[in-house]
Amino acid sequence: MNRVVVGAQWGDEGKAKITDLLAQDADLIIRYQGGCNAGHTVVAHGKTFKFHLIPSGILYKGKTCLIGNGTVILPESFQAEIEGLKAENIDLSGLKVSPLAAITMPWHTEVDGYSESNAGKGKIGTTKKGIGPTYTDKMQRIGLRIEDLYSPETLSEKLDVILPIKNKQLKEVYNLNTYTKDEVLALCEKYAEIFRPYVCFDWQNLLRDAKRDGKKILFEGAQGVMLDVDFGTYPFVTSSNPVGGGAGIGSGYGPTVIDEVIGVAKAYCTRVGEGPFVSELTDDVGKSIQDIGHEFGVTTGRPRRCGWFDAVTMKYACLVGGLTSIALTKIDVFDTFDEIKVCTAYKDTRNGETYTSYPTDVYTHKYLEPVYETHKGWGEDITAVRKYEDLPENCRKYLERLEQILETPISIVSVGPDREQTIFKV
Ligand code: GDP
Ligand code: IMO
Ligand code: MG
Repeated sequence: MNRVVVGAQWGDEGKAKITDLLAQDADLIIRYQGGCNAGHTVVAHGKTFKFHLIPSGILYKGKTCLIGNGTVILPESFQAEIEGLKAENIDLSGLKVSPLAAITMPWHTEVDGYSESNAGKGKIGTTKKGIGPTYTDKMQRIGLRIEDLYSPETLSEKLDVILPIKNKQLKEVYNLNTYTKDEVLALCEKYAEIFRPYVCFDWQNLLRDAKRDGKKILFEGAQGVMLDVDFGTYPFVTSSNPVGGGAGIGSGYGPTVIDEVIGVAKAYCTRVGEGPFVSELTDDVGKSIQDIGHEFGVTTGRPRRCGWFDAVTMKYACLVGGLTSIALTKIDVFDTFDEIKVCTAYKDTRNGETYTSYPTDVYTHKYLEPVYETHKGWGEDITAVRKYEDLPENCRKYLERLEQILETPISIVSVGPDREQTIFKV
């Protein structure tokens, strides 16, 4: 069984916990998009691990963990992550990096910082890790890839094309410092050493053999469907495709190897950075969710905006994310809540119309109000429950109602951050 783990909201849904859990049964784990904008938390054996780029399956020995071609890699961040894991005595012998992955160069983080500081109303609230500018250059075909670091002739030829364009942009558009070829070559030499032990030049055979030998492949997504550059709340999105379809493109496998796509969603919604969020709560209820759910970013430490579960975006995520089932996390956060709301539709205050399909023009979202249905809470601690039938009745009713609205089964219920705090429903 080859599975994809996809964030179904605006990121931070608990993907890493689910990836780590499913990685037990996988042989090859591939991170397929995004970069160190991601912050992925795994709690195992009472210890908390935070990943940015390295697949969350790395905690098991004997697994191959590939950082796929669809990712963008900030070398200094990769190095820091490696060193952190080595200090914890984590075995990195299975870690591999695709030679086709894009490199985030210093100008990418500088341009990201500049753009955010000067965007005014257009500010996206990025993580300032150079993600957008790196993907922009990849698409403009003026990006560097990991493999270029090991081919002096290619690197030199490419830089002769890239640097004149880049320097013109840096100077004239952004008023930022330019780079000489010698400076960049020296940087690339340093980067080549960082990646050398991990670059998988033989990635074609790795993928071919895994497929032929029936190895179990797990694809790990970062961010979430509502941050997808095609389907999310554009332009308040990231610059890659977290949806299930991104797994094929970002790994070197086509869509035909994928059997299941598991969409991870919290029992409520959160969002970091700017952009519309129809079911956002700016009152004490939102604050309670933030406090009880510890909703602060792993990568930037920013507080996450919180709101009720949005079944409109989730239904949309089931469609465009290609979900075959849902892993619902953090439901324990509601243990002390008297009532729990679910946004089932949006009401347009301009004409009174209600929408249950997601309106893609986010500039109209300021006119939308959430339509809620209210569920009774269960008023007990569920963090020790391990069987679906042992969940309180109101909790099961709530889950079953979500399945009904979303027309998608919930396969996993997570009742706490630890590996053990998980219920497999089917
Ligand atoms: P990711 O980016 O999707 O991997 O998620 P993050 O790691 O950014 O954020 C999820 C947070 O929720 C982490 O601190 C997890 O340890 C925690 N978490 C995951 N599942 C649960 C759960 O079911 N209950 C609670 N209380 N916390 C959870
Ligand atoms: P994980 O994988 C939550 C958000 C940023 C910003 C927007 C664009 O941990 O779920 P970027 O730096 O990507 O150009 O920023 O996307 N963002 C995330 N929000 N979780 C993430 O990753 C995110 N990665 C990016 O806050 O709104
Ligand atoms: Mg995260």
